[in-house]
Amino acid sequence: MTETAGTKISVCPTAELGAGERRLVEFDGRKIGVFNCDGVLYAIEDRCSHDDGPLAEGEFDPAACTVECPRHGSLFDLTTGRPKTLPAFQPVQTFPVAVEGDTITLEVS
Ligand code: FES
Repeated sequence: MTETAGTKISVCPTAELGAGERRLVEFDGRKIGVFNCDGVLYAIEDRCSHDDGPLAEGEFDPAACTVECPRHGSLFDLTTGRPKTLPAFQPVQTFPVAVEGDTITLEVS
């Protein structure tokens, strides 16, 4: 799937999303999880590719940079959006995250 330029939204001040923390944002009816994996920011859709579970709300491992779907336990790599374990086998959407001044921004497409 090709990414096209999307809409930039503000997530929060950088001070509010420190290493090991996560935040959920909503845009246009979609929920997106933004994660700080020990200093590097990633964002994925909050919808598991297996059965629409609230993926970004599962157990977050900042050191491994993974999140575990709370519905059936697939482990997803936050850096790529790809599942590392079954039952999910399709990637979830990822979004570019940036820091502009003191604000974390997200590009939603
Ligand atoms: S809904 Fe996520 S593993 Fe099934």
